[in-house]
Amino acid sequence: MNKTTGEDLMPGDPSPKEMLERMIRVDQAGEYGAVRIYQGQRAVLGKDPRYAELLRHMEEQERHHLDSFNKLAVERRVRPTLLQPLWHLAGFALGAGTALLGDKAAMACTVAVEEVIDQHYAEQAKRLGEDEAELLKTVEQFRAEEVEHRDIGLAHGAEQAVGYPLLSAAIKTGSRLAIWLSERI
Ligand SMILES: [Fe+2]
Ligand SMILES: [Fe+2]
Repeated sequence: MNKTTGEDLMPGDPSPKEMLERMIRVDQAGEYGAVRIYQGQRAVLGKDPRYAELLRHMEEQERHHLDSFNKLAVERRVRPTLLQPLWHLAGFALGAGTALLGDKAAMACTVAVEEVIDQHYAEQAKRLGEDEAELLKTVEQFRAEEVEHRDIGLAHGAEQAVGYPLLSAAIKTGSRLAIWLSERI
């Protein structure tokens, strides 16, 4: 663990304070998008007895993640991303759109998104020091739950979705772009 947050920053990187603001902004945006993805999936698969409870469970965890980052954003006076209206639409569209392709495609979407978030939280955890122990704990706890979501997707046939490699790559690229944008805008 780093002793202090951002001690591994390079010249030209944002300051530790700016870095922390970006972290909270992007995590708030990401969790918002995650809630919308699961809402989109539930709009299509919410009555399917194989998925109703699973999707409800995952959405509830995402809501808890979002609440935590909403609180942190208020406490630390971090302005939310200006792109929230876009994630409102794009998240729902991604969730509902993949679910309309079929339940395996919905699971493939979950796996792709959660893999990207797992990596994203792992990178954040590396940058947080003892001075941010509580935030680090939060990030690690949420990361474990995102991995649980990914495993649910894998256990429910994500890899059997038609065109899985292409679908997965496209969703991962989109998710990484959303992360990049939400850190900056
Ligand atoms: Fe989450
Ligand atoms: Fe998740």
